[in-house]
Amino acid sequence: MTDLPVTEPLLFNLDEPTPAHPNPAGIRRVAVLTSGGDAPGMNAAVRAVVRTGAQQGVEVVGVRRGFSGLHRGELTLLGPRDVANIIQRGGTILLTARSHSWRSPEGRARGAQVLRDWNVDGLIVIGGDGSFHGAHLLQEEHGIPVIGVPGTIDNDLYGTDHTIGYFTAVETALDAVDKLRDTGASHERIFVIEVMGRHAGHIALDVAVAGGAEEVFIPEDHKPVDSAVQVVQESVRKGKKGSIVIVAEGYAGGAQGVADAITAGTGLETRVSILGHIQRGGSPVSSDRILASRLGEAAVYALMDGQRGVMVGRTAGGITYTPLHETWENRKDVSRDLYRCARTLSV
Ligand code: F6P
Repeated sequence: MTDLPVTEPLLFNLDEPTPAHPNPAGIRRVAVLTSGGDAPGMNAAVRAVVRTGAQQGVEVVGVRRGFSGLHRGELTLLGPRDVANIIQRGGTILLTARSHSWRSPEGRARGAQVLRDWNVDGLIVIGGDGSFHGAHLLQEEHGIPVIGVPGTIDNDLYGTDHTIGYFTAVETALDAVDKLRDTGASHERIFVIEVMGRHAGHIALDVAVAGGAEEVFIPEDHKPVDSAVQVVQESVRKGKKGSIVIVAEGYAGGAQGVADAITAGTGLETRVSILGHIQRGGSPVSSDRILASRLGEAAVYALMDGQRGVMVGRTAGGITYTPLHETWENRKDVSRDLYRCARTLSV
């Protein structure tokens, strides 16, 4: 499904009902849950699922606390008014968890039975790769159709250009970097700033370019910690007041390791600032709300179409479907061009 070019004026007639989406799979009721780390925009995705369902005559059941709540039977029917006034809210109204019980076959069997008891025809899971693993197993072992919606600030899922929450996390981290830069420049200090990204440097790279950092360390590049020494020395020689070094959480040498290497190699004062979970909260920016709205809608249509075991994503302007296992088996590379650009602009 790709966006069609607009060749004539778009006229909306509010009296006209939304066209019925074909439903060869005969879907009458779906469940939706959020799982893993919360991400800004998850609420917008839940809202989109519930309202698309309402438009199409498909009932939607919300599951609280992710997979943990599923096997405990924490389900409730949701209507369009239940998801009013949440599109702008961070976190997730459904609550989320990293479930341990789901790792056991017994836990998954209990969850599957709960879904059968509730007459659920398909499950929509909004989360990251760990959540998709859980969803994949549920479908493999119990034949329940599942659809994944990419919701994680890390942007580390193959099969979609961006994940829900990523844009907001970058904005939040960037705002912090701008503030730290004021102090860095005033005290002529080096700030080493750790941003989130357990296995991937997407946030770090975007923040480095947008925040004008001197150097960036990401899990993907295996650079030694002391490779920042020369960069910092050069920037001092050129008369820069303070420097910013961005380190992704998943970089093996760690932010403190980089800071220690800079102090040892240059004798300059460094400070480490770990931004942590503030990057996960807050009102989603428009790009996350729009992405979440489109993917939530697409997830319901995918189930109605008879798709199962896929993640709905958005790639090059179109909706795409990627088998769940491919989303974690394939690696979504960081942009080499952006990496090069970060280095070029730090002169
Ligand atoms: O996966 C998203 C993420 O925010 C990672 O960047 C981070 O490593 C992890 O979650 C932190 O998880 P928790 O909130 O469980 O500490």
